Amino acid sequence: MPLLKLHYNLEKHSIGLVVAIILAASVGGIIEIAPLFTIDETVETTDDMRVYTPLELAGRNIYIREGCYACHSQMVRTLRDEVERYGPYSLAAESQYDHPMLWGSKRTGPDLARLGGKYSDDWHVAHLIDPRAVVPSSIMPGYSWLAENPLEVDDMAAHLATLRRLGVPYTDEMIAEAYSDALGQAAPDGDRADGVVARYGDATTIRNFDGDPRLTEMDALVSYLQVLGQLTQAPYQAGVEAKP
Ligand code: HEC
Repeated sequence: MPLLKLHYNLEKHSIGLVVAIILAASVGGIIEIAPLFTIDETVETTDDMRVYTPLELAGRNIYIREGCYACHSQMVRTLRDEVERYGPYSLAAESQYDHPMLWGSKRTGPDLARLGGKYSDDWHVAHLIDPRAVVPSSIMPGYSWLAENPLEVDDMAAHLATLRRLGVPYTDEMIAEAYSDALGQAAPDGDRADGVVARYGDATTIRNFDGDPRLTEMDALVSYLQVLGQLTQAPYQAGVEAKP
């Protein structure tokens, strides 16, 4: 067999063998790297994308801490059955401020990328405390302590500052007011609520998410769940424009 003979001869020339190995190995590398050269043309941008508020970010940290991502993905694929079940497929731009991203691929429970607005806050609180109270056949574990644990917000400014170093456009004011904004978003009647809307936009939801006057981890997690898929309206509008 001429091919085997070629290989047999190649094995006797160490330099030639090294060159051949590098060539063979680089094929896989090129296939992975080449699409990145066109990333500027392939990734859509959105005009209305907003950043997470401090409360939503605190909720996101709790989502990560509790390992929700082990059972839930946050990425609707472009397949028809996914779009019909969950809604518009996910755009790359939607996770541009996610560090780390939580796309995942393991779905013991449903995908959550289009969850915001699907249920009421009360539903989420009841479901997180005891999933079987609202979905009798659920196998999701309960997270009742979230309703009791006071939310730690002292370090939110540091979280925002860290994300800014990674490219998330938090302003100096947002960082300086992070503590106040975390409290304000869950206290609609308080003095701090207006500042949250001024800094993060009218679409920000200011509510007492868990119905408890205290600021708990439940407030933060529910505020995060309610904003999933709502940071930009681009996926819901036809004809998302590609970057020029
Ligand atoms: C052991 C796997 C598992 C873990 C961990 C888990 N879930 Fe679930 N989750 C499920 C399953 C299964 C369902 C579907 C049944 C139901 O609605 O309870 C579900 C449903 C949900 C739903 C309803 C989704 C919809 O569209 O109806 C939400 C919201 C949710 N989970 C949030 C969370 C959050 C937040 C956490 C972390 C605090 C979490 N889950 C952790 C398995 C899990």
